Amino acid sequence: MKDRSDAILQSAQAAFLERLLPEREPVLAEMERAAETGGIESGSIPISDPEVGCLLTILTRSIGARRVVEVGTAIGYGALCLARGGEQVEVVSIEADEGRLGSARRYLERAGVADRVRLELGTALDVLRRLQGPFDLAYLDAVKTEYRDYVEILLPKMRPGGLIVADNTLWKGWVADPPPEAARDQNTEALREFDRYLMAHPLLTSLVLPLGDGVAIACVG
Ligand SMILES: C[S@@+](CC[C@H](N)C(=O)[O-])C[C@H]1O[C@@H](n2cnc3c(N)ncnc32)[C@H](O)[C@@H]1O
Repeated sequence: MKDRSDAILQSAQAAFLERLLPEREPVLAEMERAAETGGIESGSIPISDPEVGCLLTILTRSIGARRVVEVGTAIGYGALCLARGGEQVEVVSIEADEGRLGSARRYLERAGVADRVRLELGTALDVLRRLQGPFDLAYLDAVKTEYRDYVEILLPKMRPGGLIVADNTLWKGWVADPPPEAARDQNTEALREFDRYLMAHPLLTSLVLPLGDGVAIACVG
């Protein structure tokens, strides 16, 4: 989730693009409201930006994805967007917070996709190591300092031509243009290094897009 709508883009462009977004289905809209207020949690809950959710649906649909893994479920927003890629899509989504996973389960049931989304409670690195591929698409959205480890565990489990998508890769604009407080933020440097790693990876064709809070897309092979 980006901090401000104009963190990456100029504000007029960000506002224009936001107005163009289609109305979300009721369960997604409700999740957006719950994330803003925190629902049963105090403070807000980090979920994907709507434009990133839209991209996830487009990507899963356009590559005819069948098996998808999401790292970091929160309340299920990304999982639902991925599942909307088509009736054939099966999602495995990993979350360390039991309360959030319970919320995700309830939303996904109401959206009618619970039978196609397997929720895994645990830490991302542990669960990813024991999951069996092949996966058509992986969406990375949990611990920013672990993104590189996620890619290294997942790469042998991705099908050729599969996609690895990572959220927050421009991190409030700090990755490219760090304010003084970024010096104390380990995610900024980790994501800057991750972007370089992904772009230079010999087995990937990658791009970092200024969408939402920055989204990287890497094609395997
Ligand atoms: C940005 S949110 C995920 C948003 C979700 N992908 C979406 O599209 O709405 C990141 C989530 O990762 C979870 N998380 C943090 N550390 C984790 C870990 N080590 N393993 C698994 N999940 C973790 C957090 O509890 C949080 O709910």
